[in-house]
Formats: sequence, structure tokens, C-alpha cells
Amino acid sequence: MEFKAIVDAKARARADCAVVGMYERGDLSVGAGHIDSQIGGLIGKLHGSGDFAGKLGDTLLLPLPRGAASARVLLIGLGARSGFGRKQYRKALQAAAQALGRTGATDAVVYLTLEEVADLDTLYRARMVAEVFSVHAYKVPDLKTGTKPKAPRLTSVSVATDDSRDAKTAAAGLHTGAAVSSGVSLARDLANLPPNVCTPTYLGKRAQALAKQWPSITTKLFDERGIKALKMGAFLAVTQGSVQPPRLIVCEYRGAKKSVPPICLVGKGITFDSGGISLKDPPAMDEMKFDMSGAASVLGTLRAVAELRLPINLVVVIASCENMPSGGAVKPADIVTTLSGQTVEVLNTDAEGRLVLCDAITYSRRFKPATVVDVATLTGACIVALGNHFSAVMSNDDGLTQELLAAGVRADDRAWSMPIGDEYVDQLKSNFADIANVGGREGGACTAASFLWKFAKDLKWAHLDVAGTAWLGGANKGSTGRPVPLLVDFLLHRADAK
Ligand code: BES
Ligand code: MN
Ligand code: ZN
Repeated sequence: MEFKAIVDAKARARADCAVVGMYERGDLSVGAGHIDSQIGGLIGKLHGSGDFAGKLGDTLLLPLPRGAASARVLLIGLGARSGFGRKQYRKALQAAAQALGRTGATDAVVYLTLEEVADLDTLYRARMVAEVFSVHAYKVPDLKTGTKPKAPRLTSVSVATDDSRDAKTAAAGLHTGAAVSSGVSLARDLANLPPNVCTPTYLGKRAQALAKQWPSITTKLFDERGIKALKMGAFLAVTQGSVQPPRLIVCEYRGAKKSVPPICLVGKGITFDSGGISLKDPPAMDEMKFDMSGAASVLGTLRAVAELRLPINLVVVIASCENMPSGGAVKPADIVTTLSGQTVEVLNTDAEGRLVLCDAITYSRRFKPATVVDVATLTGACIVALGNHFSAVMSNDDGLTQELLAAGVRADDRAWSMPIGDEYVDQLKSNFADIANVGGREGGACTAASFLWKFAKDLKWAHLDVAGTAWLGGANKGSTGRPVPLLVDFLLHRADAK
């Protein structure tokens, strides 16, 4: 999909389709008003005749007579003007993308960017167009053997702006939106792939492919021998029951001077989580192919950052392996020595995410990072707490928490702060090792995060538990690509702040 910003305040651009809006009381959007005057007021009459109520998300496609600049107009219901904000604007765009997909139009001009939207400036209004239309064009990499659906006809979307200054801003927004979407698509593709395809080896190859595509990225892979040499005992314990070889994946993006401390993103890359010897219940075990969503999202973020050429340094560290039961698998009561030197009693082999992450977080120290953010589908308890709507943020730095929450608001990829603390660490007491890997049912997302905190210590660190947000179950089963939009926004602001 190609995105362009054009100067067209009077809706005169030639296009297959013009996308305009009508509010609930019948008042027309700016673009609709201009087109209406080109065609003798046909659109304006639709409300009075009862043919179009302007309800948010309603759509109506009208072919236009000669004399109009565009061949068709797609009218989108915008709801109440007073309540037209970020959410409503997104919903209107989603309706537009969906309805346009059912038309023969190959190019369209979106005039909704000319509307006032509460809390959204020109940049974000354009950015959202690129994001919504890209998400709509996303196809799951399925292995269905039937005839493939035809490629979508729509290949070019322009957004209208008032003047050349706005057009420049909108173009930047479109560029950002396209980059975010490209990162989201990568994350979704990886997470949607079946676990016999998306193995740790495969993830490593995809990370290498990113380095090949972008000179700003270098990728280093460690196999089991390399991970042993590093002494990542907790990571090794998780992989030891699997026949798939593990990978520690390290990607470095250089967008700033070498002396600038990097931001480090750490991803949980469990390509299948059976639970290990503490085997999960069979129903819905298939969903545990999504347990590498953290890894997928940090790779997606890396791709977006490279596309945007952000002036920051970024390091991505992914600990990837399977969690499987076998005669050689780690057992409840085994004690392992982590890279940090601390010992962990593995009371439940299904709490494997924190085991691979604690070593990956410790590993990130060698980059002397300014900030470390780990991303993981870490706990079912997080889904109980926040559902599918908010990712959890736990951090030892209030400023960092606020930055991440604000990025989530701007990117429409919300997160909510949850606590860590000594109280939760107390739940992780072990009689035989420095710490146990589980701490009971109560506050499960917080004990998991507090476990990681014991390894992050003095680092400026945050943990994103995306167990509820990275994928959806049910009829829409599949990866969402979250929290790529949040992370990219966070990094965009970090880049700006310098
Ligand atoms: N990958 C799971 C968490 C998970 C569960 C993500 C459901 C998405 C949906 C994680 O490895 C896990 O199994 N966690 C356990 C921890 C428990 C044993 C303390 C859990 O949440 O049940
Ligand atoms: Mn598990
Ligand atoms: Zn897991």
C-alpha cells in the first residue's frame, strides 16, 4: 500500500474514491461539504431523506456523476461531533478501509484528516490512516490449500491536507504509520506461524534477515554451546527438555554515536510452551505457540526503528527455546544457577518465561544500557487482572513507567501500571535456593515481575506482560502485533528528546 499526503483543501483531487464523513445530526465533514457543492447537494439530502443517519461506522457508497472530481464517494458516519475523538476517528477509518475493500477502487483520497479530532494533531491523524489501512490489508500467513483470495485492488491511499506545511507533517505521520504497521506485520507473521515452522532456529534466521536488509542492524546468534559458554543456567534449564536447539538472538541497531548508551529490548521467545514436566491442560495448549510474542514484538519494533532511521541505539536480546517435557527435561525441585550467579529453585516448570528472561536481562548489562524493557507473554494471571485490553507495566523507575503509559495512549496500545515489591519477592522464598520461580496464585503477574526485578536490580528497567494483549483467542484467533505500536512510540519520543 502506498500512502501520500496531498494539498487539497477543496476536495478537487481526481481519484477512484473520495472518503468523507457525515455527523449524526446531518452536518457534513469538510471534504463532504466541498464534494456536495460539486454535485448539487446530493449528499446533504441523504440525512433528511432518512437514507443515512451518520451513526459512527455506518458507510454508504455513491457513484458520482460527471463533474465531480472523483468517481465515487464513500460516506462514513462519524457519530456525534462533540464526541469525535481518537477512538471514533479510528472506528471511522476502520469502516472506510473495510468498505473500500469491497469496491473496485484502486486509489482513494481520505478527507477525514481535515476534521477536528480531539487530542489528535495532523501528524497522528495521518499516522492513523496508514496504520488502519495497513492493518486492514494484513493477511494471516495461513497454509490453506484452497484458491487464495484475490489481492486487494486498493493500492494507493492519499490523505488530504490544507496547505503544504500540513502536507509535510502528514507525510511524516504516514511514514511513521507505515513503519509501525510494518513492525506490527512482522510481529504478527512470526507469532501466527505454527510452532513447527517458527522454531528458535527460524527466529534466528529472521533476525539475520533483518540485518541483511538493514545495514544499521547487526545480528549475532548463540547456539546451545554458546549459551553454555555464557553460563546462562536458567535459560539452559528450560531448553534441556526439547529436541529443538535454542537460540540467544542479539541484534544491534546503530542510529546514534557509539558512545550513546543503547535502549535494550528483551523478548521472551518460547516458540512452544507445553508447560514442561508441569504439563499444561490440553485444552487451548495450541495457543502456546504465541509464547514467543514478546520476541516477535521486539523484532517488529527493531524493523520499524530501522525504517524510521531513529537517531538512537537499540539492542534487542531474545532468549528463544521450547518448553517441553522429556526424560531430560528440567524437573520441579531442580536448582539452577543463573547468569547473575543467583540460584533458582524450579518449583514449577511452567513458569519458564522468567527463567529465560532473567538470564537475558542479566546479559543485557554488557551493553551498559540506558534502559531495559522486557516484553513477555508471562502470566495467565495478567489476563485475569487486565483482560485483553491493557498490557501490564511493572518497573523500578516511575519516570519510565510514565513514559511507557503515555506512549500507549498516543499509540492506542494501552498499558496499565501494576506493582512490584519486596512483599511479592517474599512469596518467592525457597528453603533450598536464593529464590523460587513461583510464588503462589495470589498476584501472579506481580510475583513474576518481582522475580525479574531481582535480576534487573539497579538497571532502569520495565517489564511489559502482554499475555492478554499480544494475541486474541476465539473466532479471531491470532496475533495482534501488540505492543509494537507502544514501543515504537516510546522510542520515537526518546529519539525526539535528544
Ligand atoms: N506462557 C505462560 C503464560 C500465559 C498463559 C500466556 C496463558 C498466555 C496465556 C507462562 O509461561 C506460564 O505458563 N505461566 C504460568 C505461571 C504459573 C505456573 C506460576 C501461568 O500463568 O499459569
Ligand atoms: Mn509456561
Ligand atoms: Zn510461557
